[in-house]
Amino acid sequence: MPLRNPCALLPRRLQVVASLTLAVLLFILLLGSHPTSTSSTDYIHRVPYGPAIQSSAHQLVENLPQIPHDLPHVNTPAWLNPFRGPAHTPPPEQANSSSGEARWYTDFKWRNPFSSDTTLDEERAVLPPLAERARVYTYFESTSKDDKTKKIELELLQVWRRAWWAQGFKPIVLGKPEAMNNPLYRAVQGLELEDAMEKEMMRWLAWGNMGTGILSNWLAVPMAAKDDTLLEFLRRGEFPSLTWYKGLESGMFVGSRGEIEKAVKEAIAFPAINTTKSMFEAVGKETFAVEADHGAIAFYSSATITAKYPLLATKLSSPSTAVQGLALLPQLINSHLHTTWQNTFSSGIAVLKPLPAHTTTLIQPALDIARNLSQCPSTPIPASCPPNKPRCKPCVSNNMLISVPPVLRNTSSLFTIATVPHPYTLTSLLHSRLDLGVKFVRRETDRDSWTVAATKELLGTGLSSFSRLPALKDFVAGSYGEARTLWLVAEEPVRGDSELDLDALDWHFGFQLPRSPVSDGKSVTPVPGPERRPPPPKEEFGEGPPLSEQELMTERSMFMQAQMILRDSATGSAKGKTRGGSKSFAQTREVVEAWNLADTEVWRFVRAWDARRQLERRGWEEEEEGFLGKGTFGRWIDKIT
Ligand SMILES: *[C@@H]1O[C@H](CO)[C@@H](O)[C@H](O)[C@H]1NC(C)=O
Ligand SMILES: *[C@@H]1O[C@H](CO)[C@@H](O)[C@H](O)[C@H]1NC(C)=O
Ligand SMILES: *[C@@H]1O[C@H](CO)[C@@H](O)[C@H](O)[C@H]1NC(C)=O
Ligand SMILES: *[C@@H]1O[C@H](CO)[C@@H](O)[C@H](O)[C@H]1NC(C)=O
Repeated sequence: MPLRNPCALLPRRLQVVASLTLAVLLFILLLGSHPTSTSSTDYIHRVPYGPAIQSSAHQLVENLPQIPHDLPHVNTPAWLNPFRGPAHTPPPEQANSSSGEARWYTDFKWRNPFSSDTTLDEERAVLPPLAERARVYTYFESTSKDDKTKKIELELLQVWRRAWWAQGFKPIVLGKPEAMNNPLYRAVQGLELEDAMEKEMMRWLAWGNMGTGILSNWLAVPMAAKDDTLLEFLRRGEFPSLTWYKGLESGMFVGSRGEIEKAVKEAIAFPAINTTKSMFEAVGKETFAVEADHGAIAFYSSATITAKYPLLATKLSSPSTAVQGLALLPQLINSHLHTTWQNTFSSGIAVLKPLPAHTTTLIQPALDIARNLSQCPSTPIPASCPPNKPRCKPCVSNNMLISVPPVLRNTSSLFTIATVPHPYTLTSLLHSRLDLGVKFVRRETDRDSWTVAATKELLGTGLSSFSRLPALKDFVAGSYGEARTLWLVAEEPVRGDSELDLDALDWHFGFQLPRSPVSDGKSVTPVPGPERRPPPPKEEFGEGPPLSEQELMTERSMFMQAQMILRDSATGSAKGKTRGGSKSFAQTREVVEAWNLADTEVWRFVRAWDARRQLERRGWEEEEEGFLGKGTFGRWIDKIT
């Protein structure tokens, strides 16, 4: 290696000396003035800088002489971080990393307090890498000629897809084309098989054609908490051996491509294959590993239905009522999925409402969702339990508790619906005014009030708002939080008047939420009371005093105006700030954002998190469409509609 000119080294050395000095100075400063903040918690360890430095950063901002009127981009607290690397180019745009106004960048550094440290861009939030979804396949081929039956089958497939998707899988419906694509198909064609075995072979050929994954019957759905051990194992998508789940009949297998192929070849070579009825008879015992734990999977096989749901079985067994019986099945499965969810969250649903005196309007959509979630599902067999949980607690009278706490609570059996307002919206509501000048914001408003209020119990009162961010982000997007929370952006919540957005909620939860307060009257057995909608919780107003009708109306109108201004300010800045009004809106927005760095960060993070989730599902639907020409599910819809 050639020796460099020693003079070139000098500045570098100086740099090192300077940053070391700065670090030491900061340390002395902080250890002296912030004894409490050294008691760091779990989350802080994951952050490259400690709480002490965070609070000092906060102090520095607080003591800034004045936020200049034309506001250069002080939003980036990066300059406060003495350990920052020398990078000055923003990371490249990743594929599919924006939706509407939300933009994001996927990186392992997502827990860092500020995204802009990584993206060098205030609008781009850093999100955790998207988990690869394990594939779960089902083989579906309708034998029915009648349209009504086909429609019900389609509904059942939809129930199957939604339930697996919500549990973090990628459900794929296979059909004959996939089976025929398998090179072993010709060999199977040459065999004279019994009907049942022929179907079983087609199923295995289709699975073998796709490779490693889970093969599920389309009447087998996951029904358990997200962190169930079997589901966690399945989600990893690595299957060392071909496994049969004893007790699920042939409802579910897992295996790798090589193992599946081996089993199919073995069956083909079996001399008496023309008299066998299942794979088990056609292959050696040692081909399958047998697993007894299957509690997370509910399989509605004929044997199960006969044993557990006689009402349904009776209908199904008579040709004249078979279609009627089948029509009850989607609703029954949906109600069991909903019941399982309700049982998982035995402490009820918490609708987060920090700063309760002024945020009643903000949480309305969240309350609406909570009430529907706590409602008893309509079911053809009231008080029935899922096949895999014979001792469930059926929903009889909307007995799920809805609370409206002012703080986030980390209780594993509590489901939290949180609504994050933009700081502009929140400041307007808190101070009942829309024009927020620099002076007013700096002198009259608290910083990051939402973040501080929401995490008061979780993180105590000693921390700065910056150092609360890692824990808060973890609560949104960490695997523990993700399974127990739903986060909404106050300005664009799931809108109740659009079919599409309600759909998105169904895919999030894995079942269709009740959407009508009373029974639809279609169920055969008259269902008593339970379908009435639960009333809003008594503590609707959290800890604040109940608002009068007049106050509520004022709050609502203030909220709507703030929403509009916020929307305008975004378009204003995008269009080069040509319009006078937009320009001042954009400036106001920047002032409020610069003053509330943590609240703004949370808002952007949640907005991007939600947008990416929607995008992922839409992308998958399109992918399914394009599957081998056209996915079975798509082919199937075409045939029916
Ligand atoms: C099964 O196949 C064997 C030979 O491949 C044949 O001898 C036997 O008769 C077949 N049995 C049935 C029931 O078709
Ligand atoms: C909540 O509690 C669980 C387990 O008790 C823990 O793993 C998790 O990190 C906690 N999350 C937060 C944000 O406190
Ligand atoms: C909740 O149910 C009501 C009717 O009871 C319905 O109008 C509303 O759209 C539902 N909302 C959600 C989010 O499901
Ligand atoms: C981006 O989305 C499009 C369509 O939604 C899809 O075809 C493409 O594969 C996606 N790209 C990546 C890298 O995910």
